[in-house]
Amino acid sequence: MKVLAISGSPRPQGNTYHLLQEALQVLAREGLETEYLSLHDKDVRPCLACLKCAKDKNRCAQEDDFMPVFTAMGRADGLIVGSPVYFGSATPNLMALLDRAGYVARMGDNVFARKAGTPIVVARRAGVNFTYAQLLFFFIIMGMVVPGSTYWPIAYGKDPGEVVKDEEGMKTVATLAENLAWLMKKLAG
Ligand SMILES: Cc1cc2nc3c(=O)[nH]c(=O)nc-3n(C[C@H](O)[C@H](O)[C@H](O)COP(=O)(O)O)c2cc1C
Repeated sequence: MKVLAISGSPRPQGNTYHLLQEALQVLAREGLETEYLSLHDKDVRPCLACLKCAKDKNRCAQEDDFMPVFTAMGRADGLIVGSPVYFGSATPNLMALLDRAGYVARMGDNVFARKAGTPIVVARRAGVNFTYAQLLFFFIIMGMVVPGSTYWPIAYGKDPGEVVKDEEGMKTVATLAENLAWLMKKLAG
């Protein structure tokens, strides 16, 4: 079983990266296969609402980096998306991916249904709960199953790497990853 973690931060090794690595390390310890992907070097543009995905199933007609990312998402048994808070929201990089992945999945084979997954969010100061909720909407409308932790999976930090000093945030993410591993094993039956 594989878990894919996707960072929606434009920073290659920012705070989102550190939180996702923490989660993936725990998942690997729990015996799961892991994959990490960052959108910082990907060209994933917003949805054009062309609805070509309604005819050409499981495909997006835009020629950018979307399809390889979507294919990796579809192949994974579990999905984590991480985002910094930008003006109270997830990054446009991540939302462009999720809008298109959601529509292509919905018009096609519903690749996310009944898979497990969770968002993880980081901010300097505020907007974490809104952004976590914003991302949860994707998981829920896709029919996914979302584990919890000892707190909402949010953490604080400003400059790259600062988040590792947020002990509670790091611990919350580690427990979240343990719960995700537990859930995936249960779902695999
Ligand atoms: C354009 C922009 C908008 C931001 N908006 C917020 C915000 O609304 N609330 C907040 O607490 N931090 C905000 N921040 C700070 C980032 O969320 C914070 O630095 C975070 O740790 C960055 O994560 P990263 O290193 O993974 O990119 C903003 C940063 C940028 C660049």
